[in-house]
Amino acid sequence: MQTAAFPSFGPLSGTAEADAAVIGSGIVGLSTAWELARAGLSVVVLEADRLASGVTGHTTGKLTALHTTVYDMLRTKHGDDAARQYAASQSSALRHVVDVAGELGIGCELETRPALTYCEQPEGVEALRAEAEAARSAGLTASFVTETGLPFPVAGAVRVEDQAQFHPLKYLRGLVDDLVARGGRIHEGTRVTDLDYGDPCRLTTDAGATVSARHVVVATHHPLFDNAVLSTRLTQHRDLVIAGSLPAGRDPEGMYITEEGGKRSVRTAPLADGSRLLIVTGEMFTPGTGADTEAGYARLQTWAEEHFPGFTIGYRWAAQDNSATDHLPLIGRLPGGGDDVYVATGFAGWGMTGGVLAATIISTLVSGGEEPWSGLYDPRRIGSALRSAPTFLKAQWDTGKHFVKDRLDTLGDGTHGPVRSLEPGEATVVRVGGKPCAVHRDDQGELHAVSAVCTHLGCIVGFNNAERTWECPCHGSRFGIDGEVLQGPALRPLERQDPGEL
Ligand code: FES
Repeated sequence: MQTAAFPSFGPLSGTAEADAAVIGSGIVGLSTAWELARAGLSVVVLEADRLASGVTGHTTGKLTALHTTVYDMLRTKHGDDAARQYAASQSSALRHVVDVAGELGIGCELETRPALTYCEQPEGVEALRAEAEAARSAGLTASFVTETGLPFPVAGAVRVEDQAQFHPLKYLRGLVDDLVARGGRIHEGTRVTDLDYGDPCRLTTDAGATVSARHVVVATHHPLFDNAVLSTRLTQHRDLVIAGSLPAGRDPEGMYITEEGGKRSVRTAPLADGSRLLIVTGEMFTPGTGADTEAGYARLQTWAEEHFPGFTIGYRWAAQDNSATDHLPLIGRLPGGGDDVYVATGFAGWGMTGGVLAATIISTLVSGGEEPWSGLYDPRRIGSALRSAPTFLKAQWDTGKHFVKDRLDTLGDGTHGPVRSLEPGEATVVRVGGKPCAVHRDDQGELHAVSAVCTHLGCIVGFNNAERTWECPCHGSRFGIDGEVLQGPALRPLERQDPGEL
């Protein structure tokens, strides 16, 4: 985000009309908007914050069809044909980025690299041999190897050739420029708060502006306006990321991932002085569950320093991903949203190829074409769950209710010790007048108090001590210490409380 600049676009006011409205401006939203504009549709993009400032702005930018050990799992759970379609579709998204970058002349640090899933422990070898065989059967140029470019020995690895890494925001900047040149309209600082399905659909923003559009694309990572319980089919996780310089000659020349040790994902990127930036991801956790994220960053840094001698940390950040419960992304028509509302989510951390693939699928569906892989990713595949929706929803409600009750029962009374004993940087959730209250003491000693009840569906938020955010364990909404929405599906801030009562 420091090395790619976007122009600024003002918020929407008044009314607007377009063939297609795209909510969200990550790789799904901007790629879809660009595809639709190229197909001749009038397009408006509505972004609550700044362009690509959400999940896409925090990705490591791997473009690969090797997704850890997905192929052995896919052929076991969904069959050989599903594994083949998955490999072909993800590979086609990779090629599409290469083609579009070439067509538009986008300088986005696109580098061809092998992708490897490795293990250091011998116990992991059998699973990786199976994955290599499954990936090869699915159509990838995959092999099992014991030598890699990593500066430490591995017990084994799956290696897939001719994958790629890139600077996703530089790529999207190229799409934005071309989108605007084609007449596409973009509005930042414009949060869509309501969507009426109809013909056309009607969107309302937090400032009271409205948009009429025949087609609507919900590209908000976690799906908004989710009438059809997609939320209950998604699990959230958050990864910590660190990056820093690597001495010359130490580039491992590949993109690596292992599930061992809380997961580790590694790639490098070019720096202006010709050296390389090492990017390391890991320490996955469920948001809002009280994980000690400061300790997680420390473990990640120690691991990087031990495994990559000479590494010097320069940056740290975190990224949030979601996964569908059947392990396949959800791309296509939003269940319950009619024929003209589309959604793309559940990329399980592989949103670069998944996001570009979503753009090509949705743009094909919008133009009335038959998309070869849409069946695999169709969100309506959860139809059997929907048929049992009342039972399912009740179970979900019971779970949430108990979750809230259990948390409430454990909360201390905020009028006593817990708040007064908070050190700077610490936070707690307490009961005040019987209601859960989230309290943080900032570095200056000032208390910030908000309701601890998530404004999405009412779960109790938990604190992230490294990012200083309140996070919801149910569907991953994130809030600032004063309650502002940082990430949906929540649309409204946490209600502010008077810290003077504590
Ligand atoms: Fe759904 Fe909080 S994000 S209840």
